[in-house]
Amino acid sequence: MLEHPLSDETIQKLIARAAQVRHNAYAPYSHYPVGAALLADDGTIYTGVNVENAAYPSGMCAERNAVFHAVTEGRRHFQALALVTDNGGSPCGACRQVLSEFGLDLQIFIADGNGNLQEVMTLRDLLPRAFTPADLPPQ
Ligand code: THU
Repeated sequence: MLEHPLSDETIQKLIARAAQVRHNAYAPYSHYPVGAALLADDGTIYTGVNVENAAYPSGMCAERNAVFHAVTEGRRHFQALALVTDNGGSPCGACRQVLSEFGLDLQIFIADGNGNLQEVMTLRDLLPRAFTPADLPPQ
C-alpha cells in the first residue's frame, strides 16, 4: 500500500462520510450508487453522489459533484478523496480529468459497500501524462 500522510482516523472518517452520503445517490437506471468525500486543505469535507437522469448523459458522477460542491464553497486545494461503491470501483476518466485541475498529488481511497478500504493511490497514478493547466499558454 502507498504511504500517505493522513491519519487512519481521518481516512476512516472520510470513507464514513462517503458511505453515508451514498445512501442519497440517485441511481435508478444503473443501480450503482456512488458516494464521494473530498478533504480540502483546511480540513473541511465536501461530499457528492451520482445523480442520474432519464436523459442519461445529463447525469453526473459523485466525484465531480463533490469537487463542484467544494469549489462552490471556495475551496481549491485538496488532500484526499474517498470513494465508496458496492464493488470498490475506480473513478471514471472524466472525473480523473476534472480532479486533475486541482493537483495530481490527491490521495485516493477506494472502499467497498461495507466501507472496507480496498485500494490507495494518487491521482497521478490514475492519470499518467495528464493534460493540465501547465500545458496551456500563459494565461
Ligand atoms: N459513476 C460515478 O459516480 N463515478 C464514477 O467514477 C464512475 C461512475 C456513476 C455514474 C452513473 O450514475 C453510475 O455510476 C454508473 O455508471
